[in-house]
Amino acid sequence: MKSSKTMSPNQMRSGSASVTRRLPQIFAGVALAVSCAFAPTGFAADAPVGNAQAAKAKVSMCIGCHGIPGYRSSFPEVYSVPMIAGQNDAYIQSALRAYASGERTHPTMDAIAKSLSDQDIADLAAYYSKLK
Ligand code: HEC
Repeated sequence: MKSSKTMSPNQMRSGSASVTRRLPQIFAGVALAVSCAFAPTGFAADAPVGNAQAAKAKVSMCIGCHGIPGYRSSFPEVYSVPMIAGQNDAYIQSALRAYASGERTHPTMDAIAKSLSDQDIADLAAYYSKLK
């Protein structure tokens, strides 16, 4: 008769009892405050829900080329600049993301799209999709 094996379970416990690190919560707080301060109209900038009103502070960098208010291009220039006023919200967003990701390329639009936050994109899409 063989005696059954007795396995002594190796209980390894990481006893890191006294590593007391203080999380830089203050930093997180500051960062949040800064990002909120960035939102020009004081709307809670939590979810990227398009805010056409907020976009008005941002379209200044688009108008030169896209010739908006109203698309009646004040700007028939060397470029053929697509009409984005009245364009579908989701389309505008996906176009901007495509430029930002490099999926779609155009020298200026790449740079612009990369500088936009998700919130910016949502706002701009809301603004332009409502613009007729
Ligand atoms: C320097 C000129 C210039 C500026 C500034 C500019 N765009 Fe553009 N944009 C273009 C050109 C040119 C195209 C077409 C590029 C191409 O063929 O892919 C374009 C394309 C787009 C498209 C895709 C349209 C389509 O029909 O597929 C969107 C959306 C867009 N721009 C939004 C914006 C927004 C929003 C801004 C401001 C944040 C902006 N653009 C600023 C020149 C500009």
